[in-house]
Amino acid sequence: MSQLTILGLESSCDDTGAAVVRGTPGDATVLSSVVEGQNSLHEAFGGVVPEIAARAHAERIDVVVRHALERAGIALSDLDGVAVTAGPGLIGGVMSGVMCAKGIAIGAGLPLIGVNHLAGHALTPRLTDGVAFPYLMLLVSGGHCQFLLVRGPEDYSRLGGTIDDAPGEAFDKTARLLALPQPGGPSVEAAALDGDPKRFRFPRPLLDRPGCDMSFSGLKTALLRTRDEVMDDNRLKASDRVDLCAGFQAAVVDVLVEKTRRALAIYLQDAPAVPVLAVAGGVAANKAIRAGLETVCDQMSVRFTAPPLALCTDNGAMIAYAGLERFAGGAQDDMTLAARPRWPLDQAAAGMLGGGKKGPKA
Ligand code: KG4
Ligand code: ZN
Repeated sequence: MSQLTILGLESSCDDTGAAVVRGTPGDATVLSSVVEGQNSLHEAFGGVVPEIAARAHAERIDVVVRHALERAGIALSDLDGVAVTAGPGLIGGVMSGVMCAKGIAIGAGLPLIGVNHLAGHALTPRLTDGVAFPYLMLLVSGGHCQFLLVRGPEDYSRLGGTIDDAPGEAFDKTARLLALPQPGGPSVEAAALDGDPKRFRFPRPLLDRPGCDMSFSGLKTALLRTRDEVMDDNRLKASDRVDLCAGFQAAVVDVLVEKTRRALAIYLQDAPAVPVLAVAGGVAANKAIRAGLETVCDQMSVRFTAPPLALCTDNGAMIAYAGLERFAGGAQDDMTLAARPRWPLDQAAAGMLGGGKKGPKA
């Protein structure tokens, strides 16, 4: 198969991304990837403000695209297609990306390829490690939490996911309750290192029920109650804070590890030649979670892989690559491509409940 060079645009949440990827399915290279975050714009509001996000994407996406093309040393005429996140996500941001991609496609006479943001995450292990289908993907971030059985670029089964908060959201809320800096994941993880994970026993929601669904919203309520019990005169001692972090993190690890064990058991029924568990999303950076997942994989003779963090979190390269896979398979969109706030990857599975702080989940 001849090489394809694809430009990818991502603007579904609070990162404006553009990238150029070149290659064939399972064997591609990132020529450039530019991501502009919006943390400073949303910081004061304690979460992503959709209207601010949409405006910032609209203002910056063309600049980010230009930088990506310049860094790759690629002209529009060198491209074979333009891929863009068409959902799910915050609708104003998704529209900014789709409009920009349509403009480029018309102006440069290029094919347009709409990409599901979750497919971008789910296919990243093929970009970074050339992982073969089928593999199991655990997507854990501030906005997503689900197990996906990835059988092909258009073939996904959702084995389960959170019914309320995503784990990253739970880390962020925990940090807020304990007066630790945002984003909560890294600060809670650092504090947990000095804490006793056994002192406070937090609930392990849904572990007593069959299946791969998870729930993290009850954890913060339990944490809040325990914090209030140990607070003295409205002050939280440093030793209590680190123990609360360690107890919270241990509960998240236990839930993710046990549910992963169940999802792997379902995946292994397909008898994949080389079984692989891939994780993606910002929460995959957590060392305790990673260690727990690696242990289950060892026990079940499954290879564990995690893309480098820059490609685990939202970026344009994953969209360019997912577009490359779709385009190589003959898929293409036209100017009727719509921006979709909700778009489950697995059309057969019921839509997820709840909407995270970073917008609707799929
Ligand atoms: O994938 P990501 O950058 O953005 C989306 O949510 O799409 O993930 C960000 C989330 C935040 O909630 C952050 O607190 C969490 O990932 N996170 C972590 C760690 N690093 C980032 N959670 C736990 N442990 C970490 N080390
Ligand atoms: Zn994402």
